[in-house]
Amino acid sequence: MQSLISGYRAIVIGATGSIGSACVRVLRKDPNCSSVSELSRQSASPLLLENETSIAQAAHSLQASGPFQLIIDATGALTIDGQGPEKSLSALNSERLMRSLQINTIGPALVMKYFIPLLDSKRRAIYAKLSARVGSISDNKKGGWYGYRSAKAALNMMLQTAAIETLRKKPEAIFVALQPGTVASSLTTPFVRQEDCLSPETSATGMLDAMDALTVSTGAQFIDYAGNKIEW
Ligand SMILES: NC(=O)c1ccc[n+]([C@@H]2O[C@H](COP(=O)([O-])OP(=O)(O)OC[C@H]3O[C@@H](n4cnc5c(N)ncnc54)[C@H](OP(=O)(O)O)[C@@H]3O)[C@@H](O)[C@H]2O)c1
Repeated sequence: MQSLISGYRAIVIGATGSIGSACVRVLRKDPNCSSVSELSRQSASPLLLENETSIAQAAHSLQASGPFQLIIDATGALTIDGQGPEKSLSALNSERLMRSLQINTIGPALVMKYFIPLLDSKRRAIYAKLSARVGSISDNKKGGWYGYRSAKAALNMMLQTAAIETLRKKPEAIFVALQPGTVASSLTTPFVRQEDCLSPETSATGMLDAMDALTVSTGAQFIDYAGNKIEW
């Protein structure tokens, strides 16, 4: 990435996922990037979204290697505990809704709590969270997917609120909620023909280029992998 300092350091959380691992591969090919730290449930310091202590420990394990100029949280889930998204009100179930909020909103908010402090405060630095266009309230024309949509909308609010607070101390920071496109992955396999999807590399390259072009804002920004703005 050209907009970050030469030799910038990156963290990818959810590095085992289709999009997270593609971000790692693309960043490793960037001569301007000096290090990419990968975190996941399988990393040396395992990060589980349901477990705040594991998130705190994972952040602590990287503290001495910081500050970081790029942090990407690529975690998330659509099918949870074997159950896909709800198509109708009649399918709503309290436990299922809470699990989606836990994985798609609360876990990522706790990731923000422990990882935003690792962002460089002296120069341009980017905190990116994989969100989803379906989390846009104004873009919701089809309905369905209650839990996932709502969890992503709430996630966007968490990011916006964290951005406003953090920008007071780190005025060059950029906070971005990302729509990666419809990407071939285990998340989309049950719902879309994989040959109709973007490759994870195309999505990752597009998102990194789009982030490179962002300028500082008064809060978080919501864009897709082609750099197009999405209404909240
Ligand atoms: N693919 C798409 O078309 C698409 C579209 C819109 C938005 N998104 C968003 O993009 C992000 C990445 O999606 P993807 O397609 O790359 O999905 P994926 O391949 O299933 O990757 C999901 C990642 O999240 C991690 N994760 C899930 N539950 C976790 C938990 N409880 N604790 C810790 N880590 C957990 C997974 O870890 P494990 O490897 O350990 O399971 C994996 O690293 C998600 O936020 C998704 O909502 C994707």
